[in-house]
Amino acid sequence: MKKHIVMLPGDGIGQEVTKAAKKVLEAVAERYHHTFTFESHEIGGAAIDSQGTPLPEDTVAACKKADAILLGAVGGPQWDHLPGHMRPEKGLLGIRKKMELFANLRPIKGFKQLLHASPLKEEVVSGSDLLIVRELTGGLYFGEPSERRNGGKEVVDTLAYSHSEIVRIVDQAFQSARVRRKHLTSVDKANVLESSRMWREVVEEKSKEYPDVTVEHMLVDAAAMKLITSPSSFDVIVTENMFGDILSDEASVLTGSLGMLPSASIRSDGVGLYEPVHGSAPDIAGQNKANPLAAILSAAMMLKYSFQLEEEAEQVENAVKEVLDARFHTADLAVHDGVEVSGSEMAAKVIEQISSNDTTE
Ligand code: NAD
Ligand code: IPM
Ligand code: MN
Repeated sequence: MKKHIVMLPGDGIGQEVTKAAKKVLEAVAERYHHTFTFESHEIGGAAIDSQGTPLPEDTVAACKKADAILLGAVGGPQWDHLPGHMRPEKGLLGIRKKMELFANLRPIKGFKQLLHASPLKEEVVSGSDLLIVRELTGGLYFGEPSERRNGGKEVVDTLAYSHSEIVRIVDQAFQSARVRRKHLTSVDKANVLESSRMWREVVEEKSKEYPDVTVEHMLVDAAAMKLITSPSSFDVIVTENMFGDILSDEASVLTGSLGMLPSASIRSDGVGLYEPVHGSAPDIAGQNKANPLAAILSAAMMLKYSFQLEEEAEQVENAVKEVLDARFHTADLAVHDGVEVSGSEMAAKVIEQISSNDTTE
């Protein structure tokens, strides 16, 4: 199989973790006789510094032609003083919007080797396996008020959704639930927000098309609590853009580290941008400490969702499990009696497994 992948390393540890994930994809290509070609483009702070904009046009054009995109992370303190439309984060929001990647799938499954690495009790974390389906191109992030700052006396952010934007994300979530444990939790703030009341109506209406999926509605504040007290009671969560952003970082605690969480930002035709959930981690950038597994597992999601290479994706996941079985871990994971390795060593261990595991011949 021949595929063309656009790499958007971005800023901070984005550079390190995408380098690691690319090497893993190259190992997969070699092992399974695929041809993956790569093209790297700037986004975020790196693009601001060299081209004066967080989302250069050639980056957008390359993404539109790609079979899939792998992104690292954007942002950093050196760009925090810039006005909103010039910040690195605007580049990421822009590419998601321009590519219409409205569904962000964030699977959270604790590896058994890391159960004890979570600050939560092992018996609480054990058995948790959930998927957050986060709406990604609407809501509070994208609503445009007529004026954002009124002479410095007022500020406005707008939580806007069209009915059809809610329908398509809710439908995606039902489809995801159908191929999992068939339970959908819709998370909202319907006791306060009108947008959440429409969200509930859409979920109720859609549920008629998916009678095999059980549905519950939960307010976001209670959901934040329940994610920590009984995470295994969730299967699929569907929620508004910002609620999904916050809940997924919270849920990463179940896995032991934010550096473990992959994601896929997709639209209905399968085109996808794959991105770890974490950010550019300025506190550890450039030190080869970053955990590359979130990016590597994002690459595995690319193999599965954009290229339908199920076996290859499983191979990457198994390689990660084997490395964790051997008790190797990066500094972010509090593993008992483990062997701490750098980010690049971690990637090398995963690649070693991929190249040595022989399941095709
Ligand atoms: P962050 O996710 O970058 O870091 C939060 C904490 O988690 C830090 O202590 C960091 O060291 C740690 N961490 C994150 N990823 C890690 C990894 N792979 N391995 C080991 N430790 C890891 O969030 P932040 O510090 O709030 O934000 C820093 C910058 O990143 C900001 O500019 C923010 O806007 C941006 N950001 C970007 C994305 C993205 O591009 N997708 C996501 C979140 C934040
Ligand atoms: C994420 C990040 C982004 C978001 C920021 C950097 C714009 O936090 O991907 O989770 O809020 O979507
Ligand atoms: Mn986030």
